[in-house]
Amino acid sequence: MLGLAGLVYNDGMQLERILHHQGFGSRKLCRILIINDQVTVNGAPCDDPAADFDTQDLHFTVDGEPWQYREQAYLLLHKPAHYECSHKTLHHPSIYRLLPAPLVERGVQCIGRLDEDTTGLILLSDDGQFIHRMSSPKWKVPKVYEVTAKHAVDSKQMQALLNGVLLVDESETIAALACEQVSDHVIHLTLAEGKYHQVKRMLAAVGNRVEALKSIRIGKLDLPADLAPGEWRWLDASDMDKLKGDRLPT
Ligand code: URA
Repeated sequence: MLGLAGLVYNDGMQLERILHHQGFGSRKLCRILIINDQVTVNGAPCDDPAADFDTQDLHFTVDGEPWQYREQAYLLLHKPAHYECSHKTLHHPSIYRLLPAPLVERGVQCIGRLDEDTTGLILLSDDGQFIHRMSSPKWKVPKVYEVTAKHAVDSKQMQALLNGVLLVDESETIAALACEQVSDHVIHLTLAEGKYHQVKRMLAAVGNRVEALKSIRIGKLDLPADLAPGEWRWLDASDMDKLKGDRLPT
């Protein structure tokens, strides 16, 4: 909002609205949390749902759990095997069960999907524009997968993956952006798209088979080495830069 001197200033927001916006449930539920002394703001208890706070750098706790106000949520998850990237799962638990409830409540969605047996790096956000840009075919965000193949991957297969293969139900060939041999059975395959079962279908198209698949890099952002399967963390400004830097318009 513009102030008198034309300066942009951050309007305060009522605590009840803040909690609602951050995913702590309906306005009524948030009001009850506050009145019941379950909330502190910037280190001090606050039982007034109508109290106004500047949301910039706002830290609060709900039932002792620390939170920072975030206008939008951007995070990464180390997806374990045997979790599905869906709210309505068929056979396995949902990856959303690995996140705190307020993040799910505020509508965080995964960007692209990994198969139930694929592990590794996946991004999530509630920023529709960001989700769209990161998953749009118009922006080639490279995704790197560590592929463990059933048969040794030979140079002919590597070349075929780089030249492009025709997948069932596709009209044009799809080529890997890069293909790096790690060992006889392991390659790092870089793709620009995220088509259904793309890695598995590409390996099948060159006469091999995927035994294990791990998402290890998106843009210039690596799966953090210290993040165990099932753990998540917020994306910081440097992570966001690594994602921005590699979006290449077609
Ligand atoms: N390609 C696949 O085949 N599966 C995934 O989970 C991701 C990419």
